[in-house]
Amino acid sequence: MGLIEQAAKRLEQLRQAGVELPDDSQPLQASTAQIAAAFSLGEKTTPEGGPEIAPRDASTAAISIHSSKRTDLNLEAMEAAGLLVPSQSRGLLANEFRVIKRPLIANAMGKGESPIANGNLIMITSALPGEGKSFTAVNLAISIAMELDNTVMLVDADVARPSVLNMLGLPPAEGLLDVVKDNSLDISQILLRTNIENLSILPSGTPHPRATELLASDAMIRLLDDMSKRYPDRIIIFDSPPLLMTTEARALASHMGQIVIVVQSGDTTQAAVSEALSTIEACPLKMMILNKINRSASGRYGYGYAYGYGYGNEK
Ligand SMILES: Nc1ncnc2c1ncn2[C@@H]1O[C@H](COP(=O)(O)OP(=O)(O)O)[C@@H](O)[C@H]1O
Ligand SMILES: [Mg+2]
Repeated sequence: MGLIEQAAKRLEQLRQAGVELPDDSQPLQASTAQIAAAFSLGEKTTPEGGPEIAPRDASTAAISIHSSKRTDLNLEAMEAAGLLVPSQSRGLLANEFRVIKRPLIANAMGKGESPIANGNLIMITSALPGEGKSFTAVNLAISIAMELDNTVMLVDADVARPSVLNMLGLPPAEGLLDVVKDNSLDISQILLRTNIENLSILPSGTPHPRATELLASDAMIRLLDDMSKRYPDRIIIFDSPPLLMTTEARALASHMGQIVIVVQSGDTTQAAVSEALSTIEACPLKMMILNKINRSASGRYGYGYAYGYGYGNEK
């Protein structure tokens, strides 16, 4: 049973037991759901969380999304599973992602220190599996979608171990692999619009025995080009394969404007992180996030975060 199914079941059990559930509570997993970022890759930016802007109203919503498919996310179950939801813009997780997303959005919109090609294509990767790529990608996409001006497409590009739909409690659906395989299919036909304003999802798609080769294929490269040109005002977040297991993540990385490297605190060795970084030297912008930090390790609230941003080949 996925995280969301478990959370939904638990909520139902609590309700049946007559427990009143608050609408706007902290995530139940807040103690484990800590994203913290460290590692200096280059110039440090001052973490500063600006005020969250309310989502635009429904009448003007999602003008640039032409998808015919729509799916409803179970926001209550997502919240209970420790994921970020729009009603929780003041919570711990929301604050952590507010800091993480600022420089990514600025660079994507060409407001960073220097303009970068494909800045709106943001890859979330890590050295190894299980470090929190999908958790980070989902929360980051939701956090960015909560902004007034940003439309987000979350792409599940970890085709060997897809988990975005499962994490969100959604059934399997067509997606990336189907579009790469069949050029008569258009992204707009399979993109899932959601009940989170400004957020759409491109699932990994129908499993394919040569999925990893498809991801590194010329058709995929054409698709990425097309995506960044067709949706220049949209931030596209790729939940990606790990860098050290296979080579397709590296192929993908070479087309991304920005790369976020998730590092599992206390688990990933420095050698693995260095090796992972060396595979993506060509990407102009890299950010590192230290994930799953022990809350009591530092800081006034029992934890602390900062992040590192790297320009050029600085490490
Ligand atoms: N900061 C976090 N707080 C709570 N759970 C987390 C956090 N980061 C990751 N997880 C959980 O750890 C597991 C592995 O994370 P996942 O994002 O699936 O890793 P990856 O995509 O890198 O393989 C998942 O069950 C996920 O929900
Ligand atoms: Mg994953």
